[in-house]
Amino acid sequence: MKNVIVYYSFTHNNEKLARFLSEKLQCEKLGIETVKPRNGFSVFLDIFFKRTPTVKDLGKSLAAYDHVTFVSPIWAGKIATPMKSLLQKERGMVSHYSFISLCGGAPGQEEKIERELVSLLGKQPDAHVELTVRDAIAVHENGKIRATASQYRVESDELELYEPQLRQFILDHSVVEVE
Ligand SMILES: Cc1cc2nc3c(=O)[nH]c(=O)nc-3n(C[C@H](O)[C@H](O)[C@H](O)COP(=O)(O)O)c2cc1C
Repeated sequence: MKNVIVYYSFTHNNEKLARFLSEKLQCEKLGIETVKPRNGFSVFLDIFFKRTPTVKDLGKSLAAYDHVTFVSPIWAGKIATPMKSLLQKERGMVSHYSFISLCGGAPGQEEKIERELVSLLGKQPDAHVELTVRDAIAVHENGKIRATASQYRVESDELELYEPQLRQFILDHSVVEVE
């Protein structure tokens, strides 16, 4: 089974998650880059005006893989706009896919994101998981770390906190053994 991870990350949380998963699944990962680099203001404008930024070519055809794992933040209750651009571009090229996000977390969000995925790609994901940074923040509460869910930067070793969810996610979408 040929897997690939395709990720977008603005502040590096999902980049760390993509690296972690590519090590576990022993597969390559491809990062999404926007033609015009995003900053806080352009992210805000993308969300406000429902714009999708132009993204660079991935350099590989997703049709060559049996399974694609998309890794992305969630912005304002939607898939981050650069990932949305990529999904629009790749519709029809993806046979099986899964979606995972390291996000702030919000009630009812998973159902909304699932509907967005189906509308963008025309099919259900094999697996869909949202890991919330609130879980990492909670571990630090005694250490007096104060951060909102949208500010918090997860350290690579904190990804172990999500071990049960990550293990299930990998089992749900792949025949590859977890190390
Ligand atoms: C403008 C903005 C809007 C956000 N909106 C949401 C949201 O609606 N739901 C959510 O779960 N997280 C939300 N977040 C939190 C991000 O998903 C979270 O910080 C994520 O870990 C960032 O990933 P990255 O470091 O890979 O860019 C938002 C973050 C930003 C910057």
